[in-house]
Amino acid sequence: MKKANKANDSKIRVAVLVSGGGTNLQALMDAERTDIIRSAEIAVVISNNPDAYALVRAEKTWIKTYAVEKLKSSAEEEIIKILEAEDIDLIVLAGFMTILSRSFTSRYEQRIINVHPSLIPSFCGAGYYGLRVHEAALEYGVKITGATVHFVNEIPDGGEIIMQKAVEVRDDDNAKTLQERVMKEAEHIILPQAVEIVAKKIKESKNV
Ligand code: GRF
Repeated sequence: MKKANKANDSKIRVAVLVSGGGTNLQALMDAERTDIIRSAEIAVVISNNPDAYALVRAEKTWIKTYAVEKLKSSAEEEIIKILEAEDIDLIVLAGFMTILSRSFTSRYEQRIINVHPSLIPSFCGAGYYGLRVHEAALEYGVKITGATVHFVNEIPDGGEIIMQKAVEVRDDDNAKTLQERVMKEAEHIILPQAVEIVAKKIKESKNV
């Protein structure tokens, strides 16, 4: 029987960069297990916070993890060394709280994706992260918010949009309840779908 072409069978190797609780990482791991993500495998999880619960989630699923000291000026070089050693094709920022430099993002052009907890171009850019995003949405009085997955370039939240999902704002919402609903009803759904879409395209481009 003709041996299947290795490249056709090989999955895109993904590094997930985290800083916090890791609920988006958990959604990615669950999506890989349930074949929502079929063209990629999470090969490594890298955190800039050694205490991130996301590392515990990864270790429970036997995924190799690295903690990189974020304060060290060489943090990006350390991350690049890991990405090269692990032969990574796609980088996913899942609650990663550090802005990557232009030299880093241009090195991995169209190979880094991020999930942001609003409908870009609303409530995004420098200073808009975590709970602050939802506070701004409530302050403005929007009735619809949501999440966006986009490619990462040197402008915070400035890259090409890949997917978005809307979530209703409720009259009795506070920033915490809104954040939880946006994560559950939007981020955790579109991030795995976007990873599959982008990974499939990278895989096809490798097989030509
Ligand atoms: C999420 O709201 C994500 O959109 C933002 O960071 C938060 C934490 O995510 N970037 P996680 O639970 O660590 O995945």
